[in-house]
Amino acid sequence: MASSCARILLLLVFLSLQYLAEANIRRYKFNVVMKNMTKLCSTKPIVTINGKFPGPTLYAREDDNVIVNLTNNVNYNITIHWHGVKQLRTGWSDGPAYITQCPVQPGGTFVYNFTLTGQRGTLLWHAHISWLRATVHGAIVILPKRGVPYPFPRPHTEKIIVFGEWWNSDVEAVISQSTQSGLPPNISDGHTINGLTGQVPGCKSRGYTLHVETGKKYLLRIINAAVNDELFFKITGHNLTVVEVDATYTKPFDTETLFLGPGQTTNAILTANHPQGNFLMTISPFMDTVVPVNNVTATAILRYKYTRTQSLKSSKIPPVNATSIALGFSDSLRSLNSPDYPTNVPLKVDHSLFFAIGVGVNPCATCINGTKTIADINNVSFVMPTVAMLQAHYFNKSEGVFTDDFPGRPSTPFNYTGGLSNLQTKNGTKVYRLQFNATVQVIIQGTSVIAPESHPTHLHGSNFFVIGKGLGNFDPIKDPKKFNLVDPVERNTVSVPTAGWTAIRFIADNPGVWFFHCHLEVHTSWGLKMAFLVEDGNDSNEKLPPPPSDLPIC
Ligand code: C2O
Repeated sequence: MASSCARILLLLVFLSLQYLAEANIRRYKFNVVMKNMTKLCSTKPIVTINGKFPGPTLYAREDDNVIVNLTNNVNYNITIHWHGVKQLRTGWSDGPAYITQCPVQPGGTFVYNFTLTGQRGTLLWHAHISWLRATVHGAIVILPKRGVPYPFPRPHTEKIIVFGEWWNSDVEAVISQSTQSGLPPNISDGHTINGLTGQVPGCKSRGYTLHVETGKKYLLRIINAAVNDELFFKITGHNLTVVEVDATYTKPFDTETLFLGPGQTTNAILTANHPQGNFLMTISPFMDTVVPVNNVTATAILRYKYTRTQSLKSSKIPPVNATSIALGFSDSLRSLNSPDYPTNVPLKVDHSLFFAIGVGVNPCATCINGTKTIADINNVSFVMPTVAMLQAHYFNKSEGVFTDDFPGRPSTPFNYTGGLSNLQTKNGTKVYRLQFNATVQVIIQGTSVIAPESHPTHLHGSNFFVIGKGLGNFDPIKDPKKFNLVDPVERNTVSVPTAGWTAIRFIADNPGVWFFHCHLEVHTSWGLKMAFLVEDGNDSNEKLPPPPSDLPIC
């Protein structure tokens, strides 16, 4: 009797030690399957994970090891990218097709295996091949380590809000027709909040309802998983307190409107401070230039407990070209920079780069107008290789796959935001090579070639600090004096303003091949992408380990 008591006690001690242990393993099964879905009163089969849209939420704590078993049961090649996860020395699990891995073919499997080091907050995962991420995406929730509080008052509960973009036709057909014709792809037909469009003209459809109780605080984990649209988010009658973006804490600030580009995430606290009622929530697009955009607002409802009426309070949505709201939101973002969460901006710069990014036109004999729309960085339009660059690099077989002569600045400087100067663009699969631990500054300069546009630009494998931004051409004498090297926001995706520039800094402390691209999928498809190759360091823990044995072959 005594000994069985002791055994139970021991077991309890063991279990609670397990519970308290720093890191856990989180296992997920991702089954890629087709599923029929109806939105905007029309039905089509879509590619999903486990039949869900948005897909399953991945929950973990900081330092946890995440293992995702992927099985591909559809007729498309697929990969999954864990957008914003740093993937320290696990580049094989990063996911962009032909950059870090060959895609998982129909019937194939792959195990993604990575650890969430030094990050907490909200991120997203999404397919990273062609346009499959339109329907293949979901939330990543990284809770702080056990026993570590949030650096803001503890919310009553948490809710995930995922923005999506919906086409009534087959999304893969949309992009392949565009590639063949050389014409821009069709814009989408609607937007979704947690998979639902809400009421739209001409179609009675359901919307998402967020249920709240008076007096309580809610942490909203907000994700823009749209394909091509930067979006505003508003809740009628409620300010939101921003506390985190891209899984890094920020200085809290209150705002009426959130602004998120595709790939960006924001944690904000909603205080339910009305006695009752129904309040309209909206997402609506931002486009402050001549490019056509899907202008359909998606709606959801914030509903207080004990509300008896169906009547709905609504407010004005931001105008589609509300540049000042978009820029104002970005200007308000500052990293927390507290003793627990310091902001370590590199103060010396080893590589000072200048990337002119934008769209252009190239000749195309087989295209409808004899030309095709392209996009480029420093006049190089990136061509996807047919084998994975990380493998080619690791096995010293880069010859014929890529070259390491990506230009650190435009070969001929021009008036970037000055109008219609059109420069001939080269095609190429080029990387920019960085030694381990090198510090990098990139001035990302938007151009007005064809049309200026806001570009949400994303780096894989590292976060960066956003140390400055401005409109027009970057001034190398005046602008650096205004750089914020104290508490710049740390992110993985940043909007480069329309006909303007953004300055970022990062440390190349993660060996591998890291994609850098516009997160508007239309621009990525057109070639607005490149990769950084970060070399191994000298120590064994500064090297990229060998690839997993199940890494797919092309
Ligand atoms: Cu969220 Cu390279 O992408």
